[in-house]
Amino acid sequence: MRESGVTLVTVGVFSWALLEPHEGMHDFGWLDRVLDDLAGAGVDVDLATATASPPPWLSRRYPETLPVTAAGTRRWPGGRQAWCPSSPVFRDKALSLVETMAGRYAGHPALAMWHVSNELGCHNAHCYCDVSASAFRRWLADRYGDLETLNEAWGTAFWSQRYSDWEQILPPRAAPTFPNPTQQLDFRRFSSDELLAHLRAETEVLHRLTPEVPVTTNFMAMKFARNMDYWGWAASVDLVSNDHYLDAADPESHIELAFSADLTRGLAAGRPWLLMEHSTSAVNWQPRNLAKTPGQMRRNSLAHVARGSDGAMFFQWRASAAGAEKFHSGMLPHAGPDTRVHREVRQLGADLAALAAVRGSEVEPAQVALLFDWQAWWATELDSHPSTDVTYLDQVLVYYRALWRAGVRVDLARPEADLSGYRLVIVPSLYLVPDAALESIRGYAAAGGHLLVTYFSGIVDGDDHIRLGGYPGAFADLLGVRVEEFAPLAAGQQVTLDDAGRATVWTEDLALAGASAVRSYTDGPVPGRAAVTRHAVGGGLRWYVATRLDEDGTARLLHRVCAEAGVGALVEAPAGLEAVRRRGAGGTSFLFLINHTDSDAVVPGTGTDLLTGVAHSGTVPVPAGGVVVLSEPEG
Ligand code: GLA
Repeated sequence: MRESGVTLVTVGVFSWALLEPHEGMHDFGWLDRVLDDLAGAGVDVDLATATASPPPWLSRRYPETLPVTAAGTRRWPGGRQAWCPSSPVFRDKALSLVETMAGRYAGHPALAMWHVSNELGCHNAHCYCDVSASAFRRWLADRYGDLETLNEAWGTAFWSQRYSDWEQILPPRAAPTFPNPTQQLDFRRFSSDELLAHLRAETEVLHRLTPEVPVTTNFMAMKFARNMDYWGWAASVDLVSNDHYLDAADPESHIELAFSADLTRGLAAGRPWLLMEHSTSAVNWQPRNLAKTPGQMRRNSLAHVARGSDGAMFFQWRASAAGAEKFHSGMLPHAGPDTRVHREVRQLGADLAALAAVRGSEVEPAQVALLFDWQAWWATELDSHPSTDVTYLDQVLVYYRALWRAGVRVDLARPEADLSGYRLVIVPSLYLVPDAALESIRGYAAAGGHLLVTYFSGIVDGDDHIRLGGYPGAFADLLGVRVEEFAPLAAGQQVTLDDAGRATVWTEDLALAGASAVRSYTDGPVPGRAAVTRHAVGGGLRWYVATRLDEDGTARLLHRVCAEAGVGALVEAPAGLEAVRRRGAGGTSFLFLINHTDSDAVVPGTGTDLLTGVAHSGTVPVPAGGVVVLSEPEG
């Protein structure tokens, strides 16, 4: 590890069964040795509380702690994370282990950080058992106060669902047809809150026993996980950390990586964060697990650092010889240290050491905010909607990718955030818009901001009730349009626009009410109707995109929207060259240039490359697949 430049190791995740082989009987000998060895080698430890997976004795003695599916099937132990987030028995046993661990390792020289559980909610975000049902009712009583208010919010007059007693209320278990949508939405909110409560309960013990040690838990702010509302979690950790894994099927996975890193920085409120896990090469849990190409892991790691991470950590140090993840890459592969992957690990260790000055600096704020909201994600994809082709992350990533390709940096922001510093705010398919979010977006536009809203936005309030008066309800007046009826497209259907562009998925029977048409359909269900509109009000511009433009059409539209908002690329660079700047105290700045293409590139820039020590003045060559980190001259 020392030779690889490793400075921080996560230890103990999933080791409850080793640490407490029988209830109340502990064996810490092996962990003592690991921590002592690491301390001796000058390597810090991010010590897991080990509660992520209960040991076999726990589920055997307390089977009620096992989670239950919507159909009522109790999940068996044998995998990992088989616990009900609302179980008081599980909570009690977990906190007792945390208390013992924190007491034992308080003051240990290796202990640098606590790692609560692991990827909370990765496999057990939703439990439908009777214990969860009671906890759900308590959560609902807290939210609504009385049954009448709940009945109103859930719209229970429909389909004979009116509740006359709290005991009648259940989680949205498998029903003959669509369960009540607000019940589903509230259950998702409740489930995220239950896991957050677990995080807070463990953190409370750790803060009490080791107040000087920061506490984190590894978030999964990425496309593979959507069940936790991390906007509500971020304030509960001392340091935001995130796990990210590439989708091997995505030819532009480096863009989704940038999205995940930007989202994590948003959660960290712009402060540095930590990449807790990614992979040196292939994972083992996708259908086809592609190995990373030479240099790809280095680009991935440094792209996270460029976007605010103060390090790059991996699952796992040594590729396992046994168990479910034995085909997952590691820093030390099955074939040993004399391997390409391990040589690249050592190179990365040297690179990160060379970037020591970057630590603590912050990514320069972007000119564009892209609004992102987990609750809107859940609500958008509830059942019985106009089209299953309207999915949330799709729209978010369509706009994120187009801006990334144009070299325009964005911040991911929650809809309720202060947006006043941005030149342009993009609102992709924000179906659910609670009043506070609406006020925030309205306020931004009223102050002369440039706003771009896309289809299926502003449709419902926080209770999933339609905002009446024509679509896009919350935003119709703001955008100067009025839609009487949606006109979703058939599977695979394409429509043509008057600039010869193509669109798919969605169209709307849209009437102009102040806005002007920028593009219209020439065919499809609503020929002649506007597909893209522009509404100039008080110095600001409000754009509405009522269809899913193709990649080229999105790029052309954003080119115009950005130009009118005075938004530009950070660096004039060829396609596929990623540029991000971090600024440190005392006027230091670091320009990261990452070349994701097979061709050498030259971009404007001045400063010394921290990775090579070479000084550049005016232009910087960035080799194919390579990375340059310029320490820029001050002032
Ligand atoms: C998650 C977990 C790790 C491991 C990796 C595999 O991030 O935290 O324990 O399972 O996935 O990619």
